[in-house]
Amino acid sequence: MTSTQLNVSQITQRVPAEDPQAEEATIVIFGASGDLTARKLIPALYVLWKDGYLSDRAPVVGVARRDKSDESFRDELAEAVRENSRCGTVSEEDWQKFASRVFYRRLDLTEAEDFTRLGKSLNQIEEQCGVHGRRVVYLAVAPDLFLPSVESLNAAGLIPAPSDENWLRVVVEKPFGTDFDSARELSNGLGDLLREDQIYRIDHYLGKETVQNILLFRFGNAIFEPLLNRNHVEQVQITVAESQGIERGRGGYYDGSGALRDVMQNHVLQLLCLIAMEPPSLFRANEIRDEKMKVLRSLAPGSTGSLQEWAVAGQYTKGEVDGRTARGYTEEDRVPADSRTETFAAMDVRVENWRWAGVPFYLRTGKRLPERVTEIAIQFKLPPLHLFTTVECDGDMCDLVGAQPNTLVFRIQPGEAISLTCSTKRPGMQYQIHPVTMNFAYDTTFGRALPEAYERLLLDVMRGDSTLFTRSDELEAAWEFVTPILEQWEQSTHQPEPYPAGTWGPAAAEEMLRRNGHSWRTPDGEDDAD
Ligand code: BG6
Repeated sequence: MTSTQLNVSQITQRVPAEDPQAEEATIVIFGASGDLTARKLIPALYVLWKDGYLSDRAPVVGVARRDKSDESFRDELAEAVRENSRCGTVSEEDWQKFASRVFYRRLDLTEAEDFTRLGKSLNQIEEQCGVHGRRVVYLAVAPDLFLPSVESLNAAGLIPAPSDENWLRVVVEKPFGTDFDSARELSNGLGDLLREDQIYRIDHYLGKETVQNILLFRFGNAIFEPLLNRNHVEQVQITVAESQGIERGRGGYYDGSGALRDVMQNHVLQLLCLIAMEPPSLFRANEIRDEKMKVLRSLAPGSTGSLQEWAVAGQYTKGEVDGRTARGYTEEDRVPADSRTETFAAMDVRVENWRWAGVPFYLRTGKRLPERVTEIAIQFKLPPLHLFTTVECDGDMCDLVGAQPNTLVFRIQPGEAISLTCSTKRPGMQYQIHPVTMNFAYDTTFGRALPEAYERLLLDVMRGDSTLFTRSDELEAAWEFVTPILEQWEQSTHQPEPYPAGTWGPAAAEEMLRRNGHSWRTPDGEDDAD
């Protein structure tokens, strides 16, 4: 180091890279026969235990209506953990150790008496495992059973009083309501029986490693934050694209939901909050959620004209994805042939506050798009004077192209990365701009599989940290914004615009941006927005 370099990184304390504190709670999963339990929850709990974040004593109790023994439940899960956990091979010895604390209890969620029996069973299991008094109930059930389940827990005396040293935390999966009124009704119903700090409303996007990095990257660096505002940013694009269609058996749920409810209202609006919010005064759940609330409260349509000018619905038709013919949405399993459900939604919205007033935030999500990719792209304004020619070269020949703006891209998945495109001088005897990308890729920097969202989220529930969960007012504010759109789209005169599977959505979505002199990026790492 030379004397002119500043050494600002001084060691203040030496700490282990990973310092797991094993949490101890009884995890009770309602709806344990379902896909989520096998694909996400049990694999996540297994990895937490393996990495030392879950105590050797903590029991996991699956609860569902079907008849099953502990043994048959464990056998089913062994397979699921081998297939779905990120820790690669699962040795028989490890699995047996973990599975010895996995139990199954039959229960009909609509039968209140069954809950008294469940209470007794839980006491026995906890005594056998040597744990006491801390319970997480995970509601991986149909949404119409959320409230009845909690009511029955209450009737059976399974919700400890606030003064009690025992605790119960309830995790609620999505969908949390289907519109503003139903979300509020559910919130009020749960709020009558549980305190806000006992309710954990999951949005699994918030548990993704790269999503957590948005706040750290923004508020842990001093150089980007001063630029993230209306003076420097031209537009922001948030894309949650999926190449898959409707997975087997899911058509029934999806057709009653659609892209706006399924992904836009929750995952996309949460990403928008994280990229647009002000720095919280403290990095704590309520302070962060207060800032996200302010963003949701500032949301406004990108046009004062009709809804079509700022919100577009599409539905995929037959087309080609990944070199294979994909059928149209209305030919999917359990989808009515005359369905008008949207499989694509795009919006042009504004965050009307001091920082962002006037900056377009373009949001889009859809099924059967050309690839699976989630990203946030912040495109900056062009320099005020174009002093140089911009070129794109291929061997000895170069194309003269328009000036390229700087773009900061948070690549959430896959190929997790953060990149910044800049202009640089192309080596040679002339002044020509050659656009380049500075890229931080997770795999080359950290070189290991990233934790799964459900690992982090389940651990946070046990830790009592609700930072990565949505508060009831946030959810209601998000519903409040999208409900008028849903109401218009549900009218019999509305038809989503068709788009062939394997394309980036309907033409109306392109048109929506073109009116503002913008276009959608093709999220392949190449910045081609203008
Ligand atoms: C879920 C939606 O919440 O998110 C699904 O219900 C969607 O329809 C999924 O496929 C996408 O999640 P991920 O983590 O695969 O991007």
